[in-house]
Amino acid sequence: MTHESIPQLAAYDEATLDAAFRELLLSAQRESGGIATAEGKEQFRLYWLGRKQGRLKSIGEAWLKTAPAEAKKAIGQRFNQLKEQIEQTLEENAAMGSGVARAADALDITLPGIRPGMGAEHPLIKTLHEVVSIFERMGYSVGVGPEVETDYYNFESLNFPPNHPARDTQDTLVVAGQEKKPLRERLLLRTHTSPVQIRAMEQQPPPLRLVIPGKVHRNDAADATHSPIFHQVEGLCVDTNITFSDLKGTLDHAMKELFGSSVKTRFFPSFFPFTEPSADVQISCIFCAGKGCRKCKHSGWIELLGCGMVDPAVFGFVREKQPAYDPKKISGFAFGMGIDRIAMMKYGISDISLLYSGDMRFLEQFA
Ligand code: DAH
Repeated sequence: MTHESIPQLAAYDEATLDAAFRELLLSAQRESGGIATAEGKEQFRLYWLGRKQGRLKSIGEAWLKTAPAEAKKAIGQRFNQLKEQIEQTLEENAAMGSGVARAADALDITLPGIRPGMGAEHPLIKTLHEVVSIFERMGYSVGVGPEVETDYYNFESLNFPPNHPARDTQDTLVVAGQEKKPLRERLLLRTHTSPVQIRAMEQQPPPLRLVIPGKVHRNDAADATHSPIFHQVEGLCVDTNITFSDLKGTLDHAMKELFGSSVKTRFFPSFFPFTEPSADVQISCIFCAGKGCRKCKHSGWIELLGCGMVDPAVFGFVREKQPAYDPKKISGFAFGMGIDRIAMMKYGISDISLLYSGDMRFLEQFA
C-alpha cells in the first residue's frame, strides 16, 4: 500500500461529501480484495484505521480543520460510518483470504497422491464388442438405431401384421397416451434390434453387411434368466446370390471365433415373421464338449440364436423408400443373438440380475 496524498474537499454540501466518502470507501474495498494472509490484514488495518497515523485519521483531521463549523457534524458522522464500513470489509475479505491461505498451508505436496480407480469394461459390453469385432473382421459395418421405436419399424415392416399372434411372443412395453395416433406411428420400447434392419436398408441400397448391437426391452418378469432390459446383436447381409449356405458358413465361423474352434453348430427349422425359411442355431455344449451335462440338459447342445433368409415381404416394405431391394434380384440373410446369455455362458454367471446390479464386488472381477 502506497501512501497517497490527502484528497481535497471541493465543497461542503451533502452531495459533495457523499461522493468524497464513497470514493474513499471504494479505494479501501479495492485494496482489501488482495488480502491473503494475517499479516496483510494487519497492514491494511494499520494503513486505514491506525489510531495515530491511519489514513482515516489524517484525512479526518485535514478535512475537519478547514471545514466551516456547520459542516463539521456532517463530516464527523460520515467518518464514523466509513470506519465501520471499512472494518466490515476487512473482516469479510480477510475471512475468505485466510481460508485460501490455510488451505495452501495444509497442502503437503510430498504426500503420495490418491490413485483414481481404473475403469474396466462391463462383461456385457466386453461380450458385445467381441461379437461385433468378429463380424467387423468379416467386413461387416456397425449400425445403431433408437430404443424408443414406432410400431411400424418394430413390428409391421418386419411382417408382423397388426393383431398377428406372432406379436405375443414379444411382450411389449408401450409408451402411454398414443391411442389417437394411427397404430404404425405409436411409440414403444423396441423388443428386438431387428427394426434397425429396416432403418439401415431404407438408408442405403444393397449390397449391405451390417451388425447392430443394442439394448432391448420386454415386459418380462425378472428371474435368474430374464431381465426386462437385455442386449442383442443383430446381423444383416444383402447382396445378389446370398444363399442359406452363406448364412450357415458365416454363423459357424462366428461361433468358432467366439467359443473356440472345436465348437460345432447345427440348424433347426423355426419361425420368425421376417425370415423365410427361419432357423434356430444350436452350438455343441461348451461345458461338456457335447457329452451331456446339467447345463445343456443332457442334450449336448445349447440353443443360442435365431436366423433365416430375409422374407421377400420385408424387402417389399423397404422398397417404398429404396426400390433397389427387389427380391427378384437380391437376397439376404439375417440373424439375432442375445448377448446377456452369451456373456453368462462365457464368464460362468448364473444370475442375469448380477449384470444390472452395479455391485462393485461383482464388476471388479472383470477388471
Ligand atoms: N428378433 C428376434 C428376437 O428378438 C431374433 C432374430 C431371429 C433376429 C431371426 C433375426 C432373425 O434377425 O433372422 O426374437
